[in-house]
Amino acid sequence: MNSDVIIECCGLSHCFGEVKALESVDLAVRRGEIHALIGPNGAGKSTAVACMAGLLSPSGGQVRILNRPMNDANAIELKRRIGTMPEDLALFDQLYAHELLTLQAGLFGLDRHTTELRVRELLSGLELADTGRRRLRDFSTGMRKKVAFAAAIIHNPTVIFLDEPFESIDPATVAMMRNLLSKLATGGRGIIITSHDLASVNTVCHSASLLVSGSVAWRGEVGGDRTFLWGGREYASLETLFLEIAGTRSVHWSWLDERVATGQQWR
Ligand SMILES: Nc1ncnc2c1ncn2[C@@H]1O[C@H](COP(=O)(O)OP(=O)(O)OP(=O)(O)O)[C@@H](O)[C@H]1O
Ligand SMILES: [Mg+2]
Repeated sequence: MNSDVIIECCGLSHCFGEVKALESVDLAVRRGEIHALIGPNGAGKSTAVACMAGLLSPSGGQVRILNRPMNDANAIELKRRIGTMPEDLALFDQLYAHELLTLQAGLFGLDRHTTELRVRELLSGLELADTGRRRLRDFSTGMRKKVAFAAAIIHNPTVIFLDEPFESIDPATVAMMRNLLSKLATGGRGIIITSHDLASVNTVCHSASLLVSGSVAWRGEVGGDRTFLWGGREYASLETLFLEIAGTRSVHWSWLDERVATGQQWR
């Protein structure tokens, strides 16, 4: 095994009752690499992240983090080195942002000085320093997402899982987060994100897996002006590749298309 690989799954599978959410997914992410899971809604991205981060016990297959199996015997020890932003943010709504981050830092054993410094820097960098006396329950959707992002990285984890980190985030903050993720990766961490923001994926990630119906339909390097190969054809962008593999559908809207075709106006 390559010792640079710090996130690895082999034959990862998960069923929710009758629903096969993941089927035999293999994946390896090296130190310094940011890998994206992309794919249509319901493809299994969040399930994969939850299984890899130890939030969900997979029905089959293995997950190895930092070259060690993620199982009950060493899950706690490994989780200390993992930072996760799950799909369901589940924040403690009665707290203020600085309280939640301080609590998170305490759970991971950070000392008081380090905690204060990181809470201050993260809140300021994410434009959350002036949230005054607003509790998390009164935050906007994007503000909550930013707090969850800060909570995922405050303990300086070696392995980071971020489920839809750019969703609901304004473009300036997305740019700042992309920059921060690149710095974290350069420092030798392994990062997996899920995202529907293919432009961000192509900007910040080194590689991606396209999941369709729980299986990997395409995997390859991303970034820059590169083109993408699939089925013997070359695609100019991640978006055209996605549309080809995940299918572009032509839908007939009975209540709309006739009016458009005949130029009828709404009354
Ligand atoms: N708790 C659950 N109980 C039952 N089925 C579930 C549960 N969570 C997910 N699923 C099913 O598993 C499949 C994969 O879901 P998942 O949330 O992993 O998709 P996703 O790729 O993250 O989608 P999205 O892009 O919408 O976030 C879907 O068919 C979904 O309905
Ligand atoms: Mg999801």
